[in-house]
Amino acid sequence: MRKIIIAGNWKMNKGLDETRDFFQEVVSALRGVELGSIVPVVAPAYPFLAEALRESFGSDILVSAQEVSLNSDGAYTGEVSAAMLKSLNLPYCIIGHSERRQYHNESDANVQHKLLKLLAHGITPIVCIGETLAQRDANQTEAVVLAQLKGCLQDVPLKTGTEIIIAYEPVWAIGTGRTATPEQAQEVHALIRSWMMENYSGVVATNLSILYGGSVKPDNLALLLACEDIDGGLIGGASLKAEDFIEMVKIAREADLLIGLCQSGD
Ligand code: PGA
Repeated sequence: MRKIIIAGNWKMNKGLDETRDFFQEVVSALRGVELGSIVPVVAPAYPFLAEALRESFGSDILVSAQEVSLNSDGAYTGEVSAAMLKSLNLPYCIIGHSERRQYHNESDANVQHKLLKLLAHGITPIVCIGETLAQRDANQTEAVVLAQLKGCLQDVPLKTGTEIIIAYEPVWAIGTGRTATPEQAQEVHALIRSWMMENYSGVVATNLSILYGGSVKPDNLALLLACEDIDGGLIGGASLKAEDFIEMVKIAREADLLIGLCQSGD
């Protein structure tokens, strides 16, 4: 059964006290809640990863980095390597976010390089892909998404499909309040899964968690999760409020229980 991941991407928000407060509230609210296949993940800024790990220790909330360096070590001022993240025992790291692609000229080749570095250190990459509005309007969504998949996963060996997570984030839906409709998102998620099937295997395609990102919030999460190929969300703005994050984890759990019930009734 695929994991359903509710991942908060805090971007450049929250300092030390806010990070601590958020984790204390979420850890306490979810203590004793049976989460089944739901995995809550939060990605704070680098300086607060250790605090987040400390506060979430022993809970079901996992911590992710937002980025990693292309390089292994040495004279790269301001960068953080995969080995450094591993030394914190960090389970996840986001790569290829459209803001990195846009403001830091990151290419699919960069993402592929980072992905291999993370895998070599046993960290699960959350690989972001997605088209811009101009590309969608020019009917290029499919071509863009497939080219990104191909570029990011070139020579990346996958056996189980649980080594990575893909986040489909249409750029036009990020931080705009304009969510893709469940149908629009499902169409691209199905495309991604069938590409994984053709280029890897049925096992990889079946086990791979594909998250949707772009203005996800408590109000629209349930409908997105009801889609066959949407296995969670990568959530920016709405993940900053502890109560919304808690609510989204609970919505995911309810959706998962409902799907389980439908399947057992088949
Ligand atoms: P948003 O951001 O939920 O604020 O749209 C999503 C993301 O950038 O990952």
